[in-house]
Amino acid sequence: MKVVLVLYDAGKHAADEERLYGCTENALGIKDWLESAGHTLVVTSDKDGEDSELEKEIPDADIIITTPFHPGYISKERIQKGKKLKLLVVAGVGSDHIDLDYINESGRDISVLEVTGSNVVSVAEHVIMTMLVLVRNFVPAHEQVMAGGWEVAAVAKDAFDIEGKTIATIGAGRIGYRVLERLVAFNPKELLYYDYQALPAEAEAKVNARRVEDIKELVAQADIVTVNCPLHAGSKGLVNADLLKHFKKGAWLVNTARGAICNAADVAAAVESGQLRGYGGDVWFPQPAPADHPWRTMRNKYGAGNAMTPHYSGTVIDAQIRYAQGTKNILESFFTQKFDYRPQDIILLNGKYKTKAYGADKKV
Ligand code: NAI
Repeated sequence: MKVVLVLYDAGKHAADEERLYGCTENALGIKDWLESAGHTLVVTSDKDGEDSELEKEIPDADIIITTPFHPGYISKERIQKGKKLKLLVVAGVGSDHIDLDYINESGRDISVLEVTGSNVVSVAEHVIMTMLVLVRNFVPAHEQVMAGGWEVAAVAKDAFDIEGKTIATIGAGRIGYRVLERLVAFNPKELLYYDYQALPAEAEAKVNARRVEDIKELVAQADIVTVNCPLHAGSKGLVNADLLKHFKKGAWLVNTARGAICNAADVAAAVESGQLRGYGGDVWFPQPAPADHPWRTMRNKYGAGNAMTPHYSGTVIDAQIRYAQGTKNILESFFTQKFDYRPQDIILLNGKYKTKAYGADKKV
């Protein structure tokens, strides 16, 4: 079978760390395994546009493996071109770069699987870090000392504690719940969540979180809001100028879920106007982010309030080890025709939605 693998190029960094599996050079560690079983593996980072290698390989591909970090966008047109496609694997979590609705509606016998849970701790830790970086105003303080300066007041005037704050998550699934668990230690005033599905009573009690059923009411009460839901038709552009008006003035917003859940221009305007004190996260749309993306340069009135990074929270080395192994397990199950996938990894099975996170609940 022909397997196409879309990953980022690591260049010299690939040799620095052999467990950097998620790059073209290290190919998820599955190159020899696949080739010794007689399969053909094409590994590329060239993914965008009609002349890209991904586009050229699609007509012959049986399997395409992508990641959310350097997403090979699998559009309706590409699925139509890929007449042999049987399996799409996401090495990581989040399949929004694939036109899932089209596969579901088209009747094509294509399965989509991700490695559910593989990087949820990695992301939850990044969320906590980003909250701290923003609320404690770390970036300007660090830049100050690196530049040889010493002006405590300049950074202290925009720095606070997390303790005593009301913190809300939009989405309380694997990542959102882990964020709540970790926040308990900070002694917040209150933890809130908004999700289509209520947490089990025991889980809610463990973190002492309160569910708020109206998203506007949720954000109106929170000093810090974090986005931890998948990107789908019901969450695209969810955080826009209209919702931002309902935020507490000067709240912080952290989004490591997907860039397109937030309206980029509206968020940048809110940071510049002071409606948000700061915004941070690692997800953008599109990826790689263009050089003129407003989130690269937006600042609050103190020249601070920006904690953006490239998309790497879910691709730290510990996560790469887990999603590389998870991808291999999925392929093994497919090649041996056992199809004994982990149920939580299945997004679409033979063309039909199996998960509530994307299609099944998007109209709720
Ligand atoms: P999950 O499926 O365990 O939880 C998602 C939760 O969001 C579910 O409880 C679902 O009911 C809820 N939800 C769905 N739509 C919603 C909406 N419009 N409003 C509020 N809640 C909604 O997923 P998990 O593992 O927690 O991951 C969440 C998302 O985080 C992924 O879909 C992915 O987009 C992103 N992610 C980002 C990574 C990164 O490296 N930055 C890595 C891994 C995931």
